[in-house]
Amino acid sequence: MTVLETIQKRRSVRTFDPSPLKEEDAQNILQFASRVENPFDLPIRWKLLDAKKHSLSSPVIVGTDLYIAGKLPVAPHAEEAFGYTFEKVVLFAESLGVGTTWIAGTMNRSAFEKAMEVGKGEIMPCVSPLGYPSSKMTLRETVMRKSIRADSRLPFEELFFSGSFDRPLKKEEAGDLAPALEAVRLGPSAVNRQPWRIVVGEDRRVHFFEKQNSGMADRGFDVQKIDLGIALCHFEMVAAENSLSPAFVLDPPALPVGENMHYIASFALK
Ligand SMILES: Cc1cc2nc3c(=O)[nH]c(=O)nc-3n(C[C@H](O)[C@H](O)[C@H](O)COP(=O)(O)O)c2cc1C
Repeated sequence: MTVLETIQKRRSVRTFDPSPLKEEDAQNILQFASRVENPFDLPIRWKLLDAKKHSLSSPVIVGTDLYIAGKLPVAPHAEEAFGYTFEKVVLFAESLGVGTTWIAGTMNRSAFEKAMEVGKGEIMPCVSPLGYPSSKMTLRETVMRKSIRADSRLPFEELFFSGSFDRPLKKEEAGDLAPALEAVRLGPSAVNRQPWRIVVGEDRRVHFFEKQNSGMADRGFDVQKIDLGIALCHFEMVAAENSLSPAFVLDPPALPVGENMHYIASFALK
């Protein structure tokens, strides 16, 4: 399966089959997570957590007691680094048939932070359950997906631009960038807000911006910057799969940007 196909297939799984995750799958995921590097060079420590042992709970998750969580130092770009890395783990789990859900809010956070031994100067932005997806969703999950319109995404031309923010980019005009941009569009995001905006320059530099919504940065970190880390991950993996040799750069372009729009990072393409 290609990376783009894995991205197309992934969805948040909140209802799990009661058969526990095979030890081999759990260890594979943990080892994979500890090997993933991120373009911001920040160290992330991962643990598998037993919900029963640590009294962990999430009101939206049913059928599994196993979670994965990561923590890292508070630093510039910590959220993007975490989003980028955790999404690689999520896609790896998906390729093994293991379901995940990004969780930043709906959990007893202090119990998770205690289990992760989060120290001063560290953050644990998100966790995810791990398990095999149940063939049937709970009513609660079905209602939740409907209320945040989890199956829909904004159209291409509302997210992507050519040269400047006043020139929307249509999928038919995106040429060899279309699959990597489509991979960004399909990504998961907190409350499905899809804060990623991209300007493609004539020099084939692809600039990522966060369109920040209010109230999303008051947990001590900006959850939408995690979404942008996910976008960077999807773009880079699918651009590489399409032989575009994406090279990561932190170099804001001289562009007029709107209010609440923040530069995140860029990729230079072949
Ligand atoms: C950073 C982040 C935080 C999230 N936090 C939660 C959460 O606390 N609880 C939850 O049920 N889903 C959470 N989600 C999952 C989103 O609601 C979900 O990705 C989005 O609705 C799209 O649905 P999909 O993942 O099935 O494509 C989060 C997603 C991201 C990326």
